[in-house]
Amino acid sequence: MTNTPDLWHHYGRARARQDRTVPRTFRWLWSQDDGPGPGPEVLGGITGEVVGDLGSGAARHAAHLATYHAPARVDAVDASPAQHVMADDLFGHLAPRLRIVRSDVVQHLRTVADTYDVLYSVFGAVDFTDPSELLPFVAAALRPGGRLLFSTLAHYLGGAPAEPDVVSADIPARTPDGEATTMRRWVLQERVWTNMLAESGFTRISVDRLPSTTHSPGSADTLFVTAVRRT
Ligand SMILES: C[S@@+](CC[C@H](N)C(=O)[O-])C[C@H]1O[C@@H](n2cnc3c(N)ncnc32)[C@H](O)[C@@H]1O
Repeated sequence: MTNTPDLWHHYGRARARQDRTVPRTFRWLWSQDDGPGPGPEVLGGITGEVVGDLGSGAARHAAHLATYHAPARVDAVDASPAQHVMADDLFGHLAPRLRIVRSDVVQHLRTVADTYDVLYSVFGAVDFTDPSELLPFVAAALRPGGRLLFSTLAHYLGGAPAEPDVVSADIPARTPDGEATTMRRWVLQERVWTNMLAESGFTRISVDRLPSTTHSPGSADTLFVTAVRRT
């Protein structure tokens, strides 16, 4: 345990007070007003498969998969104590098919080699963890031929372009007490993700830019990335 403040304390809290339902849909897009976009079908058939959500927050995506897509198991992994409590309160009843794990994803993945058929992240841990540290452990935790899929920002919120190198930016965050602080986020160009994935043990790498169709404040284009662990 550390005394580091939980910078995800506030995230999703208002929604959790009003909406306890398992979502009927699974969305990858950043902007909620952008229509459905790709859905869970892009994961490939996950019936009977072992799946992991990296940075699962309140575990809404994982709860959807556990409820509607018959995996053997979905592990919803998140480091935030607040998100863990929220996920457990909302969806703990979906155990054992849904397993809610409180852990940093790197710490979790390093203990589970050759385990997952699919790992995914929806603006989750992949955005907030040094990819040169994370991606090799993601590859090792997948079974050979296993799939990684993630959505991430195609540019900074506000419009600044993504980085041409593997560097993070300090973005605004709030402590549980409401004090302003920052956290690190990796917003990288398509080519940078492709190179990082190739260096980390992946093949069949595809990066699609899904433009936002709205121009509302806070909207952003999504990068949707898929790759397969080399056999
Ligand atoms: C923007 S939220 C997205 C949550 C969820 N995927 C969703 O779509 O609602 C990012 C989440 O990633 C988690 N996270 C970030 N870095 C992480 C890490 N290294 N290990 C585990 N969880 C992490 C945070 O705790 C937070 O809950």
